[in-house]
Amino acid sequence: MENVNDIKVRNISFSFDDVPKHWVLGNPIMTHFSNSMHIVFPGGEKFFVRSVRKFSKEIKNQKLAKDIKGFCGQEGIHAREHERFWDIMEAQGLNPDRFAKALNKVAFTGKWSLENIIVKSLNRISPRLGDKMTLSVTAGLEHYTAILAHALFNEPISTNKKLAPQMLELMYWHASEEIEHKAVCFDVLKEIDDDYFLRIAGYSIASIVLWTALGTGQAYFISQDKDIQLKSVPSHIREFIQEIVLGETGKGLSKNMFSYFKPNFHPDDIDDRHLAATFFSNKSYG
Ligand SMILES: [Fe+2]
Ligand SMILES: [Fe+2]
Repeated sequence: MENVNDIKVRNISFSFDDVPKHWVLGNPIMTHFSNSMHIVFPGGEKFFVRSVRKFSKEIKNQKLAKDIKGFCGQEGIHAREHERFWDIMEAQGLNPDRFAKALNKVAFTGKWSLENIIVKSLNRISPRLGDKMTLSVTAGLEHYTAILAHALFNEPISTNKKLAPQMLELMYWHASEEIEHKAVCFDVLKEIDDDYFLRIAGYSIASIVLWTALGTGQAYFISQDKDIQLKSVPSHIREFIQEIVLGETGKGLSKNMFSYFKPNFHPDDIDDRHLAATFFSNKSYG
């Protein structure tokens, strides 16, 4: 077993050959929610790296400084691999590029994006408050990726053969690395400024942005999908609600998302590093 405390960058490239268009249980509603993640995650991961790097030189804890490098390396490869899947989506008649450009304009790098507005306006109120807020948003989003990862390991549909195996491999790899680095941004935020209200304000912004972006992407890809039969939509929605929203993923999320509000919360309160260690112990990723 690998040392669970190491944040190892695995430069892996996945094969997406023969991924069916509706790769989650043959259900387009569930598939397009997951497809939305292929766009939202890379944009988010680049934002995480930008946000945490602003503070990396100030970190006195040597282990944490080393972990920031591992974190940035892992997120860079996550973004790259999710973006590689865009070619497959395009071949399936979807337009991920358009959604990615719109998301960037509204949330991240556009002149009037949420990121720019937060950084510029709050930095004017107090030096670095905007940078701290984007770091706090990052720590909040990392809590979401960690609890989504945790939920995946409890999710019965993830062991179901109706889910494309090459996509499942990508999801488990990403989930395991999210668990490995789940505390990095949280600990950086704590070392830079451990104000409770800063942490909760960032988490609140993270919650709104994440679910709005994922839902918008889902609706966008559904609207583009010419292979959806209208008469099947109600049963697909029912299955999405039963399997995901009310299933283990929804239960896991609702159980863990509020724990972030505890004043003494730390990501390691959720004991799951063994899940990542066990997953990687069976792999020969570089
Ligand atoms: Fe990631
Ligand atoms: Fe992450």
